[in-house]
Amino acid sequence: MRAVVCKALGDPSALTVEDVAPPPMAELGVRIRVRAAALNFADLLMIKGTYQVKLTPPFVPGIEAAGEVIETAPRVIRVRAGERVMALVAAGAFAEEAVADENRVYRIPAGMDFVTAAGFPVVYGTSYFALADRARLEPGEVLVVHGAAGGVGLAAVEIGHRLGATVIAVAGGADKLALARGRGADHLIDHRSEDLRERIKALTGGRGADVVFDPVGGSAFEASLRATAPDGRIVVVGFASGQVPQIPANILLVKNLSVIGLYWGAYRDIRPEAFARQFDVLLRWWEEGALKPHTSHTFPLGEAEAAFATLLSRRSTGKVALIMGEP
Ligand SMILES: NC(=O)c1ccc[n+]([C@@H]2O[C@H](COP(=O)([O-])OP(=O)(O)OC[C@H]3O[C@@H](n4cnc5c(N)ncnc54)[C@H](OP(=O)(O)O)[C@@H]3O)[C@@H](O)[C@H]2O)c1
Repeated sequence: MRAVVCKALGDPSALTVEDVAPPPMAELGVRIRVRAAALNFADLLMIKGTYQVKLTPPFVPGIEAAGEVIETAPRVIRVRAGERVMALVAAGAFAEEAVADENRVYRIPAGMDFVTAAGFPVVYGTSYFALADRARLEPGEVLVVHGAAGGVGLAAVEIGHRLGATVIAVAGGADKLALARGRGADHLIDHRSEDLRERIKALTGGRGADVVFDPVGGSAFEASLRATAPDGRIVVVGFASGQVPQIPANILLVKNLSVIGLYWGAYRDIRPEAFARQFDVLLRWWEEGALKPHTSHTFPLGEAEAAFATLLSRRSTGKVALIMGEP
């Protein structure tokens, strides 16, 4: 099968595309003919060797994929050959075949295409857990979403809107903000030309936001600390800016702030029932039309390097996906 291969840790420009042996079957394995696989920041970190999960080259990167089941291990009971599924894997999604654990495979609803399905689990799962579970966002609260046109950010805008919050979307540029507006954002802040702290304060009558969803870090986090209402919550989701913020504890004390960490993938093991249940909610919302997943760029499997360059250069909105074979 053809696959993207990371032969040495470093830059995505060193990735190769080659013929490799299909992955071996696992005890509770589901073999999938992959039709599309979505990119994530985590892939970049894994390729660099700086992610919390360390892989030894050579390996096939990619953590989420969608396609048809072509084989199941004897003890697998939840899915059958022929079914259309989306799946999470530890690695190996950027290939024509992948083997996922039965418990990490979710049926694709009728009407959802493979590209959409490939990019669904990570961003919607992360944003749902961040807002509904970790921050316990309530209807009527004010939610600020940084990186609001990116993968997790755009999903957070939709989920925040669906949960009944007033959503303030923060992004760089008019096109990105228009996208967030179309997904339910009530107010828009262009961080390139506007002062974040002042605008959030102005939009909330001086009170500040109740909840901040932060996949960016750096100066976005620092502004959030000062633009969050007393008793507010900031969910630390990621550091797309490359800067991991340091937290002055005195501000937390004075304002009764909570800074909450989220590593979504860990909930697969910490709370497996809740992890599985989130997809029931999210796929129901998708069927109701409340979620409209967006993939700005698709590339053939052989152009993985260009796909990563698009993600890194901030040209993408929503998701970027690789397509195997015919779309
Ligand atoms: N905690 C978890 O479980 C979890 C799960 C999934 C993802 N994440 C993390 O969340 C972060 C965002 O992931 P994503 O998939 O949403 O990425 P993405 O689609 O690339 O979006 C990231 C956004 O961050 C903003 N940004 C600010 N500074 C940037 C920079 N120097 N380089 C690139 N983007 C920058 C960009 O928005 P503007 O151009 O509008 O500023 C961009 O749209 C990553 O750090 C990722 O690892 C965490």
